[in-house]
Amino acid sequence: MKNKNNLLHNLSKTILLSIGKTKLNYQVHEPIISKSAETHLLRCIKSNYVSSVGEYLKKFENKLKDITGSKYVVLTNSGTAALFISLKQLEVEKCEVLTPSMTFAATSNAIVYNDAIPHYIDSMKSNPCIDVDKLALYLSEVCTMKKNFCYNKVSKRRIKALIVVHAFGYTAEMTKLIKLCNKYNIKILEDAAGALGSYYKNKHVGTFSDFGILSFNGNKIVTTGMGGAILMKRYKDYKVVKHLISTARLEHAYETEHDRVGYNLRMSNINAALGYSQLLSFKSTLKKKKILCEKYISNIQEIELCNFIIENNFSKQNNWVNNVIIKDKYINMRNDIFNYLHSKGIKCRAAWKPQHLLKMNLNYPKMKTDNCVKLWKSIISLPSSYI
Ligand SMILES: Cc1ncc(COP(=O)(O)O)c(C=O)c1O
Repeated sequence: MKNKNNLLHNLSKTILLSIGKTKLNYQVHEPIISKSAETHLLRCIKSNYVSSVGEYLKKFENKLKDITGSKYVVLTNSGTAALFISLKQLEVEKCEVLTPSMTFAATSNAIVYNDAIPHYIDSMKSNPCIDVDKLALYLSEVCTMKKNFCYNKVSKRRIKALIVVHAFGYTAEMTKLIKLCNKYNIKILEDAAGALGSYYKNKHVGTFSDFGILSFNGNKIVTTGMGGAILMKRYKDYKVVKHLISTARLEHAYETEHDRVGYNLRMSNINAALGYSQLLSFKSTLKKKKILCEKYISNIQEIELCNFIIENNFSKQNNWVNNVIIKDKYINMRNDIFNYLHSKGIKCRAAWKPQHLLKMNLNYPKMKTDNCVKLWKSIISLPSSYI
């Protein structure tokens, strides 16, 4: 018992030492709102442009283009909306869309909103991103090609797309995934919701495929309150997506005309002003987050209970959320660890419950997903903001 208490005490001490705080209720990620936010928000309010037009929308969009290198960016009112519209443009209706089971519900939900079928795939053993070798083997068993389209042999449905989730800002293995998807003629949509500032082989994630999405929800590395963005390569996608999220309204000086059923999923100028103020100091945010990550790495090496998830050598991640994995021999202490840390004001969190285990998703197709179930039971997301 003493040993158990010592292990718990050492972990909590190490976390507090790394974040350099003893304040209570330390969340996994808190908004990083600088003084300049007030200036830009006030300027926005005074301009009277507080809705779907205004200078900050363009400013925020341009800054995102600089950071990501994306040719086209469309701002939305959430990451979920960005996923929904990207999948709509990929025309996945009635088809299967491969998605990691280890993701936030929004990824899987956006497939269902499009009247398509999520098909769950597994993560790596020690990282929540897709296990590409396992996926390659699975596709070779479950798929058949007809007229250059990929079909699920069992359900007979077309497998049209794969959502690659750059989970927690870690980068998925894009080179291998692109090669695999080219082989099966499967389109890729990158869910980089939490990965602004993460680069795979020096290229920003979310820009490897025709569509990538970002989220600016309150817990993200940059927040607009709520918000999202779609990163695109092609002008024709940009035009349609922009039109679709703006109620499909045609431009006219005084008439109100729409040419299809559109959606109102735009970001507001106020939200963009808040996001823009954070992008002005984004480089420094990334630096500070890297320092915190390095502190965790060096301190957690001494810890008996768990291992730190280290970035792959081909990627430069944003260090949005730092995670540890409880060692196998201590896995039965999982709830004790969470309860102890919470009692000390360290509001660490478990990883997402795998999507295939949620009751609304039980009947969707899936591969053997043992890695992601194990990760769910062993990942602890640590306090990761530096404020
Ligand atoms: C992997 C992933 N995808 C999508 C989303 C949805 O983003 P939003 O909350 O902005 O709708 C999130 C949000 O946390 C996420 O983590």
